[in-house]
Amino acid sequence: MTHQRQLALQAAAALIVLSLAWPYHYLRDTPWDWQTLALAIGGTGLVLAHLARQPWWWRVIHALFAPLLWFALQFELPPALPLFLFILLFLFFRGAANGQIPLYLSGQATAGRIAALLPPGSRLLDVGAGIGSLLLPLARHRPDLHLTGIEYAPLPWLIGKGRILIRRAPIAWRWGDFWAHPLGEYDALYCFLSPAPMENLWHKVTAEMRPGSLLISKAFPIPGVSPETVREAADGNPDDTLYLYRIPRERA
Ligand SMILES: C[S@@+](CC[C@H](N)C(=O)[O-])C[C@H]1O[C@@H](n2cnc3c(N)ncnc32)[C@H](O)[C@@H]1O
Repeated sequence: MTHQRQLALQAAAALIVLSLAWPYHYLRDTPWDWQTLALAIGGTGLVLAHLARQPWWWRVIHALFAPLLWFALQFELPPALPLFLFILLFLFFRGAANGQIPLYLSGQATAGRIAALLPPGSRLLDVGAGIGSLLLPLARHRPDLHLTGIEYAPLPWLIGKGRILIRRAPIAWRWGDFWAHPLGEYDALYCFLSPAPMENLWHKVTAEMRPGSLLISKAFPIPGVSPETVREAADGNPDDTLYLYRIPRERA
């Protein structure tokens, strides 16, 4: 639902600004100053996103969307450009378009917390591994782990591959759909996805992983399933909460 909320937020910013601007321009009989209006919509979007406690990247998007739109309209852009931009965005954000799983990244701090959780020699899979933001620091913290990442958006996969090659990190880096990837060989699975796939992921995990193995989900709990442990971040940020689930003996 996040994208709908963001759309509503941006629309609210535009509505507020335009409904205030309309009487002003009407009464004074002046032409609409779209540059100022775009900046005002950006500012209002930023305030609304802040009040709605949106993550920082959404605040930036809300602040820049209308001003950039105005800016782009000042040029006679070639008609192929929007198509090119669309393809570029799709190559980056395939997960958001197909499965409501956008690209945002775990940081070094999360890698440190995961490193402290896993027994020696564990085999861990990051489903939807992005650009390797979790696995690269984890490989540095814990060289004993056997790490695999699977990602299906082409550009993040390519960037991740490049980073792994440059750092010569011992990470198996796969390009593919994690829904089609068998999970039986892993002791632990890490995911940082969205609320949308969590229920289906639990079905897949309980059907394929061995009892006693671990599912670690950052930020998004599995609806209707009690985690074995919940680890909150030191600063209490809910986006950094880790939900730990032990795969049960009975199959779901
Ligand atoms: C929120 S990002 C997390 C990236 C990384 N795990 C991290 O923590 O930094 C989720 C990633 O999952 C990828 N993704 C979404 N659906 C996928 C699928 N079915 N198979 C593989 N990757 C997928 C997206 O392209 C995106 O890069």
